[in-house]
Amino acid sequence: MAFTLEKVVPWGRSFEEYVAMFALSGEDLLKRILGCGDGPAGFNSILTKQGGYVISADPLYHFSATDIARRIDETYEEVIKQTRNNKDEFVWQHIPSVEELGRVRMEAMKVFLSDYPKGRKEGRYIEAGLPDLPFKDGAFDIALCSHFLFLYSGQLSEDFHIKSIKELCRVSSEARIFPLLELGAIKSRHLASVKERLVNDGLAVTIEKVPYEFQKSGNEMMRIKHR
Ligand SMILES: C[S@@+](CC[C@H](N)C(=O)[O-])C[C@H]1O[C@@H](n2cnc3c(N)ncnc32)[C@H](O)[C@@H]1O
Repeated sequence: MAFTLEKVVPWGRSFEEYVAMFALSGEDLLKRILGCGDGPAGFNSILTKQGGYVISADPLYHFSATDIARRIDETYEEVIKQTRNNKDEFVWQHIPSVEELGRVRMEAMKVFLSDYPKGRKEGRYIEAGLPDLPFKDGAFDIALCSHFLFLYSGQLSEDFHIKSIKELCRVSSEARIFPLLELGAIKSRHLASVKERLVNDGLAVTIEKVPYEFQKSGNEMMRIKHR
C-alpha cells in the first residue's frame, strides 16, 4: 500500500525521551546509531549537534519540510483531543498535563523541522521503511525503533515484526524497541510469540525496565542481540 501523507499523524518525541526510553548511556551515544521510524522526532538533530553519529530512516522522509509541517498543523488538535479523551491511559508525572504534552511534542518537532533540510542533504534522514532497509550488514552498532513496532500490532502482523526485527539485526549489532505495548496501553498481542521465534532463530532477546513511562505500564524495552 502506498505511503501517503494523508495517512500519517506526525508526532515526534524529544532527545531526552529517546535517551530514557532506550536507557541510552553516555557510551551508547558515542556509537553508530540508526533510528528506524524516527519521523519528526528531535533525537537526530540534537545528537548530531552533540557530535554523535545517527541516521534516521522513515518513509515520511519522502516529503518536504513544508509538507510535513503542514501535516503536523492539520493533525495536532485531533491528537491532543484523542489524548484528552484517553487521559487515563497515561502517567502524568514527567509530563504533567495534556497542554504540556502538546508543548513538548511541538518543541521536538520544531527541532526536527529546523534540522531536516540540512540533515536530508547530509544523508542523515533517509526515506526507507521496514522490513527492508538500504544499509549494509553491520552498518550500525545500535538500531532504535520507537513507537512503531509492537505499538501498531493491530495493523502489523507477527511476520512483519519478525522480518523487521531480523532486518534491524542485519544492519546493526543490537536492536532496541520501545514500547512493548500496543495502542490502548495493553501488552502487544505479538510480544510473546515474536520473542519466542527470535530466540528459536538464535537471537538473544531480553526485556528490560527503562526509566521512562508515559503510556501506563509502558516502561519496558526489548533488546535483541546476535548470540
Ligand atoms: C508514532 S510515529 C513515532 C515517531 C518517533 N519514532 C517517535 O517516537 O517520536 C511512527 C513512525 O513510524 C513511521 N513508519 C511508518 N511505516 C514505517 C515503516 N514501514 N518502517 C519504518 N517506519 C515506519 C511513520 O512514518 C512514523 O514517523
